[in-house]
Amino acid sequence: MSFDFVDYKKDFPLLMQQDVAYLDSAATAQRPASVLQAEKEFYEQANANPLRGLYELGVEATDRYEAARERVRKFLNARSDAEIIFTRNTTESINLVAYSYALNNIHAGDEIVITIMEHHSNMLPWQMVARQTGAKLVYLECEKDGSLPDEKLEAVIGPKVKLAAIGHVSNVLGCVNPVEKVIELVHRNGGVVLVDAAQSAPHMKVDVQALDADFVAFSGHKLMAPMGIGVLYGKEKLLDAMPPFLTGGEMIDSVTRDGAVYAELPHKFEAGTVNAGGAVALAAAIDYLESVGLENVHAQEQALTRYAYEGMKKIPGVNILGSDDPDKHCGILSFTVDGVHPHDIATILDSCHVDVRAGHHCAQPLLAYLGVRSCARASLAFYNTTADIDRFLAALGGVRKEMGYAE
Ligand SMILES: Cc1ncc(COP(=O)(O)O)c(C=O)c1O
Repeated sequence: MSFDFVDYKKDFPLLMQQDVAYLDSAATAQRPASVLQAEKEFYEQANANPLRGLYELGVEATDRYEAARERVRKFLNARSDAEIIFTRNTTESINLVAYSYALNNIHAGDEIVITIMEHHSNMLPWQMVARQTGAKLVYLECEKDGSLPDEKLEAVIGPKVKLAAIGHVSNVLGCVNPVEKVIELVHRNGGVVLVDAAQSAPHMKVDVQALDADFVAFSGHKLMAPMGIGVLYGKEKLLDAMPPFLTGGEMIDSVTRDGAVYAELPHKFEAGTVNAGGAVALAAAIDYLESVGLENVHAQEQALTRYAYEGMKKIPGVNILGSDDPDKHCGILSFTVDGVHPHDIATILDSCHVDVRAGHHCAQPLLAYLGVRSCARASLAFYNTTADIDRFLAALGGVRKEMGYAE
C-alpha cells in the first residue's frame, strides 16, 4: 500500500486507553480530547441557562451557544444563523420537518419520495405523514450495488412529488446517493428535498448552498461531538413559514392567556432549555475535523476501506454488500459470513477486541429488498489504523472455524 497513513489515535483518549479496534463509527464516532475539553470548559466557565440569564454568566453562556451556531453555519455554508436549528439528533431534525413542514404542506394525492435504503429515522416520519395526509409514499429502489441511475430517478420523480427525503450516504451500503440530481428533479416541480446527512457530514463537505437542499439533518455524535446535539438546516423562507414543532419556554416573544407570539428564527424551533454544552462541543468537533482537513479524512478513510475490503475478499465465506468498488463504500463495509449468524460474528470479533455492529442497522426494508435477514457492519473512520484492520481481518478469518466449519 502506498498511502502515507497518519496516526490520529493520540487525539482520542478512549482509543489510547482501551485495546480495541473500534469499527463502529457509523453508529457513533469517538471523541477527541479537544471536544471533551470544550464541553467541560462550558460547564466550568460559562454554565448558566442560555437565552435567559441577563447577568454576566448568562450572557456568556448565550454568547458561546450562539457562537457554536455560527460555527455550524460556516461548516454547512448556510446563508444565515437563522437557518441553523439545534436539535437532539438527526431523528429529531427529520421529525421537525415532517410535523411542522410536511403535515402543513403535503396533501392527499401528492407524492413523497424516499429510497428503499433509508434509515428508519428517515422513513417512519414519512410513513406517518403519508398516513395522516393521504399522500402516497413512493420508494425509489436502488440497484443491488446501491446505485440509483438517472433514468430511475426521472421515471419516479414526476409532477406529483412534493417532497423527497434522501440519505446522502447509506448507513448499510456506504454508497453516496445522487442528491444533486434528486434536488434538481424535485425542484423542477416545485417540491422540497430533505437530505439526511447523518453519514455524510462527518466525512465529506456538505455545502447546503451548492446542493441547493431545502433541509439538511445531521447528528453531532457521529461527527465526534457528544450525544444529544443535532442540527437541522432549513432555508430561511421555509422555516419562517413553518409553525413551531414543540412549544413552551425559550421559543416565545410574549404570551397571554389566549396565545403567544413566537420568537424569531432560529429560536422558534428550540423550545425548552437547550443543550448548550453539546452545541459548544459540536463546534469544537467541527474545528477538529477541519483542522485534520476533510480531504485528508476522506483520503485516509478511503485507503483504510480499500485495505479492509481487499483483505475481506480473500477470506472464504465472506460476502460484502453493495458495490464491488471499495472507493464507493465511504468506510462502511456490511457483510455476511456463510452459515454464521451476524450476532455470532460480532460476538466472536468482540472476543478478539474488535467492535462491529450486527443486526438490521435500522434499515429493515433495504435488507428485505436485498434478501438478507441481517448482517454485520464494520465502519471505519480516519482515526482507525491499519493495525485495527489487521486485527479485524485476523479475527474475521477465524469466524467460520470458531463455529465448527472446516474452513
Ligand atoms: C443515515 C442515518 N440517518 C439517520 C440516523 C439516525 O441518527 P440519530 O440516531 O443520531 O438520530 C442514522 C443513525 O445511524 C443514520 O445512519
